[in-house]
Order: sequence, then structure tokens, then C-alpha cells
Amino acid sequence: MDGYLEDGFDIAQLVPGFRPPVAAGAPAADAAALDAADAGMRHWTSPAEGLFTPGSDLHRRETCRMFRDTFNPYRPAVLDWPRLPPQALARIVALPIWDIAVQTEGKAKLRMAAYAGTVPDPDMRAALALNAWEENRHKEVLARMVAAYGIALAPEAPYAWPADAERAYLVTGFSECIDSFFAFGLFELARRSGLFPRELVDTFEPVMQEECRHILLFANWIAWHRANLSPWRRLRFEAKVAAVWAFLVWERIGLARTVGSDAAQDNNFTLNGAQAVAAEAPALPDLLALCLAENERRFAGYDARLLRPATVPRLVRLALRMLGRAAH
Ligand SMILES: [Fe+2]
Ligand SMILES: [Fe+2]
Repeated sequence: MDGYLEDGFDIAQLVPGFRPPVAAGAPAADAAALDAADAGMRHWTSPAEGLFTPGSDLHRRETCRMFRDTFNPYRPAVLDWPRLPPQALARIVALPIWDIAVQTEGKAKLRMAAYAGTVPDPDMRAALALNAWEENRHKEVLARMVAAYGIALAPEAPYAWPADAERAYLVTGFSECIDSFFAFGLFELARRSGLFPRELVDTFEPVMQEECRHILLFANWIAWHRANLSPWRRLRFEAKVAAVWAFLVWERIGLARTVGSDAAQDNNFTLNGAQAVAAEAPALPDLLALCLAENERRFAGYDARLLRPATVPRLVRLALRMLGRAAH
């Protein structure tokens, strides 16, 4: 099943003109091609000269080119799910993240597709549609893993079509900026802990790097979009951005307050995750420093003229300074 349509999500219908980069039924790429794609998704420098002034045609064109060129054609159907020793299997099944991970991808693909369908610029529309398609692929990776390891999921509520597609993309984009930042550190912590089989860590590695590409696209989309708004629309847009941040902070504080309930177990993965993925959880400053270092490492391979998500790293650097730790 390579059509990525298992739940009726059809990106080509939601975003007219979009063609999936991996056609249903096409033969899988060979190992050498996949290795090359894996390396290619991590490093990208534009051949264009000059600065990418936010909002300029060059900025838009090179942002979209980055996203196309760094596409990785891996296919969930051919991923290997290694047989796990009983202890490792129990650890994976017990990780409190699977429901929220599946539902997050489900929401993200729909919201990105909804917004992509409204974007008049064909380049940016195609990049955002590809991002939605990749979220659907993440969901399929998770579905296959859950099936392979017998992880029980809560039933998914139907995903609602957003009334305000731009707001929905802002919520998803900023959420990804926050969650990916911490996920990068936790993933590295899990890798170093040796508690999870190497093959399994390797299977998820491209998914992590894809999230890095997604928030790189988001950071540049928002700068381009902002710069092209008239003063009045810009004002309305900034009010919307502020409301989205308020919502995300409220959502996270709300989640933190419900620690101990079942729902909170899932949602507080970032807070509790370190204990779940390492035998000995590091102290908070060490964990934050690791998240920061991993964030920088994952972005290091992309053209320095593209903008990076800045808010979360800035806040974490500030927090580290307040905790008496110098951040680089
Ligand atoms: Fe995703
Ligand atoms: Fe994503």
C-alpha cells in the first residue's frame, strides 16, 4: 500500500495541480539512491548569488528549491521493523507518545494541505503541499510501526477541516518549531542511551531530519509572507500570530497542569520524555544544552542565507543563562 490514501486523504484533490513525488506503485529506489537522498536531505546550498532578502522572489524561489531538492523518497512500505528483544519491545510500547504522535501528523497534514490550497504562488503552494504529503507519510510510518509492534492506539477522532487555513498552518508550524526543538534533543538522548536498537533509531532518523526541513520551510515562508503583506494586512497577521502564540502557551501550560492524568502522560512527553528514553535522565540544563546543540547540528547543513526558526532557541539560551549555564 503505497498510495498513502488509507484514510481517504488525497492531497492531489486538496491542492489542485499537486503531484505526489513518489507515484503509487512505482518501484522503490535502490539502496545507493536512498543513501544519496539521505545525505542530500541534510546538506543544501543554493547556486544562486546574493542575499535572500525576506519577501523577495529570490528568497521564495530558493526556499522552495531547498524543499524540493532535499526531498527524501524513502517509502514507509519498505521500512524494516527489526525484531525487538522483549525488554526493548516493552520499552517502545510503553513510550507515552504514540497517540499524540499519530494525531499530530493527522492534524498537520490536513492543515498544511488546507493552507497550501489557498496559496496563489505555484512554487510556494507546491512546497507546502509536499510538506502535507510528507506529514501523511510520517503518519504511515507510525501506522506501520504501531502494527509491527502491537501498540494499542486510542481511536482517532475525525480531523476537522480548518475554518481559517492560515491560522491552522500557523498553529501547526509554530507547534512543530517548539516540539521539534525538544524532540531533536530527546532523540539524541535515546540514541546515546543504547536502550533502543540501532536499526530502529536509524529508521526514525530521516523523519527527524524531515521535521527540521519543515520548520526551515515554515521560518522562511512566514518571513516571505509577512514581507509581502500590505500594512493593514500585516497588522491583522501579527495579531493572528500573537493569538496563536498565546494559544500554544496556554495549551502547554494547560497540559503541564494536568500532569498525572492519562492525557497528560502523552502531552508532557517533552517534560517526561528524558526519563522514558534514557536510563539516567540528565539534569535540565544538560538536556536543554543538548537540545540546543542538536538543533544547531541539524540546521548546519543548509544554506546560511535561509532563515532559521529563532524563538525557541532564543528562549532556551535565555533559560540556560538564567540557570547559570553559558550557551554557545
Ligand atoms: Fe510530521
Ligand atoms: Fe512536519
